[in-house]
Amino acid sequence: MLKTLISNPEVEGFLESTYDFAKLMTFYKCAIMEVETKLNVLNEETSLKFDRQPINSIQSRLKSLSGIMKKLRKKGLPMTPESIEANIHDIAGIRVICSFKDDVYALAQALERQDDVEILQIKDYIKNPKENGYRSLHMIISVPVFFEKETRKMTVEVQLRTIAMDSWASLEHQLNYKKKFNFTQEMRDELKKCADLSAELDQKMNVLKTQVDTDRESNTFLDYLNQELFG
Ligand code: GTP
Ligand code: MG
Repeated sequence: MLKTLISNPEVEGFLESTYDFAKLMTFYKCAIMEVETKLNVLNEETSLKFDRQPINSIQSRLKSLSGIMKKLRKKGLPMTPESIEANIHDIAGIRVICSFKDDVYALAQALERQDDVEILQIKDYIKNPKENGYRSLHMIISVPVFFEKETRKMTVEVQLRTIAMDSWASLEHQLNYKKKFNFTQEMRDELKKCADLSAELDQKMNVLKTQVDTDRESNTFLDYLNQELFG
């Protein structure tokens, strides 16, 4: 039965492209692992230097097949693995929730400096918030993934934002993002006001953080040595 199925050229073609698709998704999954490791390493380094974590949490996701198909259809592009790889840049998505605003930029710059990371696009919605008040730093990067017999450069979307930016975006997403309900101008103004208030909170917390970091940078290593040597 299986033999007859596979010898049917249409089914064979389908199975082949299903396999190619599964392979591509595995490549993206591995790219997420690579970038997550880079971020975790940077998090550890800052912990050692300042005795605090710049990354509050990391959320990663692979775009679903239906999400990919929807995007390709909308753009009028062919639904092949080659077309997916060339045209959709957010299949591997990593959201980095940072403690402070400075951490967002420090992590982005640290990634940029890495030899194997290529920056394909940066959208700074922190310096230039979207009209609705949305803030985040979006990067599309390309990283090599080393497999047994080949190295593949994979594209990953990294969204960096503070806890405050994330809480606003999560709530706004539930209410609004690409949904049908028509917000009145008053509601839009109110949402924007909440975003601006949370940006003010971030700014104030960032100033406090700078004061604490400056003090800790000079003391953390001494504290560490002290503890190691004298318990
Ligand atoms: P997509 O087609 O959705 O990928 O948008 P885009 O290609 O214009 O990219 P952009 O960098 O503007 O946004 C990509 C992602 O950022 C979205 O998928 C969301 O996760 C997030 N995002 C962008 N704008 C908003 C917003 O107004 N509200 C919320 N909650 N999230 C947003
Ligand atoms: Mg997207």
